[in-house]
Amino acid sequence: MERHPPGLFIPVARLSDLDARGRTVVQVDGRAVAILRVAGALYAVEDACPHREGPLSEGDLDGFILHCPLHAWPFDVRSGICSSTPDVRVRTWPVRVLGEEIQLKVDRI
Ligand code: FES
Repeated sequence: MERHPPGLFIPVARLSDLDARGRTVVQVDGRAVAILRVAGALYAVEDACPHREGPLSEGDLDGFILHCPLHAWPFDVRSGICSSTPDVRVRTWPVRVLGEEIQLKVDRI
């Protein structure tokens, strides 16, 4: 498996990869990462809920709150913090867009 040096933005997808809901799932160093457009910006969260690994990419959004599709735990896509249980969080990554390219900052591998 290819590993990336920490602290670098790496290309992971293109804007054209986003589906009609503004979402896609990419693989980064062996992890599935959900990229979601919320209020005009892109956010990246690990696509595995810390409860029982529900696919967060399939969850419903309520503003910045993404509800896990399995048992509805709510996660803020900006911080990854579970708004009902703040000591629980899902991993997030900084996202930037250069031209058509979506990049994630990989700094905690
Ligand atoms: S797997 Fe996400 S809330 Fe249970």
